[in-house]
Parts: sequence; C-alpha cells; structure tokens
Amino acid sequence: MATNRTFTMIKPDAVESGYVGAIIKQIEEAGFRIVAIKKTQLTTERSGQFYAVHRERPFYNDLRTYMASGPIIPMILEKENAVADFRKLIGATNPAQAEEGTIRKLYAKSMEANAIHGSDSDENAEIESNFFFATTEQY
Ligand code: GTP
Ligand code: MG
Repeated sequence: MATNRTFTMIKPDAVESGYVGAIIKQIEEAGFRIVAIKKTQLTTERSGQFYAVHRERPFYNDLRTYMASGPIIPMILEKENAVADFRKLIGATNPAQAEEGTIRKLYAKSMEANAIHGSDSDENAEIESNFFFATTEQY
C-alpha cells in the first residue's frame, strides 16, 4: 500500500448516534478520498484481535466488548501525509482533551466510546486495512 493511505473506523457509539454522515462529510472536507468503505460488526473475538496490542491493558476486556457492541464503518482513506493528518483531524484519545473542531471533540462520548479510530503508522494502516478488506481487491 502507498504511504499516502490510512485506515479508520467509525465506532459503535457514533454509528448508533447517527453521526456517520456528519463524520464522513468532515473527513472529505479535510481532503481525504474514500478508497474503501463498508458497514460491518465485529465479534468480541475479532474485536480482541484488532486491539491485541492492548491485551495487557486494564481496559482491554471492556474495549473489545464495546467495539463488538454494534455496527462500525471501516474505511481506507487516501491523502498526502494521511496517517498524521488524520490523527490530527480526529483529536486526542480522550475527548475531554481533544482540540476544538476535531471529530472526537464534536462526537465522542468518553475515553472508550470515542467515535473513531485512526491508524498510528503506515505499517499499521496496511495491517488494519487488510484486517477488514480483502487484499486481492483493487481499490
Ligand atoms: P485508536 O485510534 O482507536 O487506536 O485510539 P488511540 O490510538 O487514540 O488510542 P489507543 O490506541 O491508545 O487506545 C485504543 C482505544 O482504546 C481508544 O481509542 C479507546 O477507545 C480505548 N482506550 C484507550 N485508553 C483507554 C482507557 O484508559 N480506558 C478505556 N476504557 N478505554 C481506553
Ligand atoms: Mg491506537
């Protein structure tokens, strides 16, 4: 995958609250092109696999249960400097500390139910994209 891509998913709290359209509008207005998109729901087991890097953390069990609690919208996005620019657009993990105008400031409910995910490196963007979208498909 080119390094101008990142992976995101709109999390269950934001889908449940009806924020999908507003969030996608903000993503597109920030200059990201949607390369791939779908609606799906994780099992607790797959949710745990996705966040396996956090398996030693105290919040791991709650996190994987929460991420499997409802539908999500995974997407592959394209833009110059995609990973860093997207992390800036979504804001800090804890919405109370997120900058004004960021997606988490506008739409997140809590540290856990924080509306949206953004990959933290080019390498993880590729791994996470392959977790949700078949690698043989052309986008
Ligand atoms: P992602 O883009 O979702 O990976 O978030 P992040 O990179 O900003 O944060 P991190 O990877 O450290 O944590 C992954 C997810 O775990 C967060 O987005 C939250 O949903 C959840 N999380 C992180 N820290 C806490 C915490 O202290 N308590 C709880 N309940 N959830 C947490
Ligand atoms: Mg993370």
